[in-house]
Amino acid sequence: SAEHGSCPVSDPFALARAFDAFDGPYQLDPAEALRWSRDQLPVFYAETLGYWVVTRYDDIKAVFRDGILFSPRNVLEKITPATPEAMEVLKSYGYAMNRTMVNEDEPAHMERRRALMDHFIPANLEHHQEMVRRLTREKMDAFIDEDRVDLVESLLYEVPLNVALHFLGVPEDEIAVLRNFSVAHSVNTWGKPTDEQQIAIAHDVGQFWQYAGTVIEKMKAEPEGTGWMHETIRKNVEMPDVVTDSYVHSMMMAIIVAAHETTSLASTNMFKTLLSNREAWDDICADPSLIPNAVEECLRFAGSIVAWRRQVTAPTTLNGVDLPEGAKLLIVQASGNQDERHFEGGDSFDIYRDNAVDHLTFGYGSHQCMGKNIGRMEMRIFLEEMSRRLPHLRLAEQDFTYLPNTSFRGPDHLWVEWDPELNPERAQP
Ligand code: HEM
Repeated sequence: SAEHGSCPVSDPFALARAFDAFDGPYQLDPAEALRWSRDQLPVFYAETLGYWVVTRYDDIKAVFRDGILFSPRNVLEKITPATPEAMEVLKSYGYAMNRTMVNEDEPAHMERRRALMDHFIPANLEHHQEMVRRLTREKMDAFIDEDRVDLVESLLYEVPLNVALHFLGVPEDEIAVLRNFSVAHSVNTWGKPTDEQQIAIAHDVGQFWQYAGTVIEKMKAEPEGTGWMHETIRKNVEMPDVVTDSYVHSMMMAIIVAAHETTSLASTNMFKTLLSNREAWDDICADPSLIPNAVEECLRFAGSIVAWRRQVTAPTTLNGVDLPEGAKLLIVQASGNQDERHFEGGDSFDIYRDNAVDHLTFGYGSHQCMGKNIGRMEMRIFLEEMSRRLPHLRLAEQDFTYLPNTSFRGPDHLWVEWDPELNPERAQP
């Protein structure tokens, strides 16, 4: 406005020019960092990134809704392009990551999604619940008599990984290797590695690619195997044009990250948020029927996927802004999720919110997360078990660290503490 003149802190065009997705405010709190944009310039070009950033709820939803005009083909592209040296390294491993599901265009995408949907329908997920609960209880038994633990290390990393591998039918013998690979894949795809880091990451990603190939061969040797990736391998034989070889190999690598990093980070964010909002935590401990909506509110307020990508296939306008063909979009769900135009008092956390479930953390439309009910189920069970057995849990003093990247968000560690003398199962064994 005229009143503010060209003051750099209130001039939206200056803020747009200065926007950096890998540093500072965005890494600290993406929704808060983009409040100025929601209010003043909801679609803007970020020069440092080469992407148009979209921050309002309705605009993000409109982009998700039209998968033809806004293609998902760039969803798994390296957001920081590979250096020539890194490209050589990747080539030396025969790296050929290509379309999976999430970055596939129509009509191939829908045909494939339909062919592979069966394992994800709620009735077919029920039997996984027991496993989640058993694993959660075992992990808790191991630390409940202590007084302090990093919940990531002791619960929230490994359980989603085990559940994911079980759901996929992937052998569970190389969990440590996978962890290293997952981080490399995330940084490779959504991070900003230095030229030197690019080389190291390229080696990890190349090895991850080859490892995925080995796992596929192992699984092919067991034609009766159960789990979604076994089903995928069978469909590859039955309908090779729909479930292609390239898809199977690429998906084998991508799904491990899609299924477990997302869930681990969302669960970590959930405990951090609830323990920072003590009243909400205490209400849940008193009334576990609040858990399903609390999980949705945590996914809205502090989701694990904070931004996703699309590419414009024909010149168009979005909220009055002209976008050329080929324009790359960073659609920031974390910002849309706190947009007060859709969520009243969107920047406050409220487990009683009646439209929490409208959040965009699982995406929206034809590509909406296929595993959303698995993620939700795990988060509910973590919360049920923890609130029942450790209602006196509190956050420990700590500094939180995050892996710098545009899209996957959650603290690396979450230290919590409690007085074991006050554990309900000691008081009333
Ligand atoms: C797609 C988030 C858990 C499998 C997606 C997308 C997002 C997402 C943002 C893209 C949606 C779009 O483009 O509209 C999450 C979050 C999770 C989670 C936040 C946990 C809290 C899982 C799990 C699995 C899974 C547990 C599998 C076991 C998939 C698949 C797709 C997908 C296969 C591709 C769907 C398609 O393109 O048609 N997820 N996800 N996700 N997710 Fe998830």
